[in-house]
Amino acid sequence: ILSSILIALIAYLWGSIPSGYWLGKILRGKDFDIRNHGSRKIGATNVLRTLGKGPAAIVFLVDISKGVGPALVALLVPALNAGGWGPSIAGILALLGHCYPVFIGFKGGRGVSTGAGALLIISPIIFLISLIVTAITIATSRFVSLGSILGSACMLLCGVLFFVLTLANPAFPIHIGIQQLLFLIIAPTLVILFHIDNIKRLLSGTERKIGQRVDTST
Ligand code: G3P
Repeated sequence: ILSSILIALIAYLWGSIPSGYWLGKILRGKDFDIRNHGSRKIGATNVLRTLGKGPAAIVFLVDISKGVGPALVALLVPALNAGGWGPSIAGILALLGHCYPVFIGFKGGRGVSTGAGALLIISPIIFLISLIVTAITIATSRFVSLGSILGSACMLLCGVLFFVLTLANPAFPIHIGIQQLLFLIIAPTLVILFHIDNIKRLLSGTERKIGQRVDTST
């Protein structure tokens, strides 16, 4: 129990690091708050449309590392492994940290990059399959949000499928146990829920395409 609480706390604080928000301040001055522009989120997609490609790449990498780091620490440090549940707890809490960051009034992003980082550690195979689905969707539709939603749905389906196949045959090569399944169900469900406003925009035809710049001068 202590181990679970400790890794949850570490992951939440780590995930809370608001890279997109801070980079906005560094590049545009202390009065600039990225949450007043574009989709009002602090993730790489909104950084791309408000600050450009270089800043977006930096935020993308930092936000991925906020998922990789806690999940890896939970995997490798016995005191934080929580009997095998550590990586999943770390992944979920890092994602929640990014979406509700304690350092900037609990208004953050949608958890896609941070969740993907944790997924890379928890199940590299499902990461790869979901990445391909996301990349193809973004390349064809030009909507990052749609890619994130379909990639998350794919992650959830693969998680459940490989869990059932592991149950049926413990020697199944892509081993997904109940401990991984926790993350593979909760993380994509949260990410999809965090895209409700994107879904409304997609349905009403007002969602912005990838990289479509917004005017940040006001
Ligand atoms: O990573 C979040 C992405 O799927 C959508 O971001 O800023 O377009 O709402 P945004």
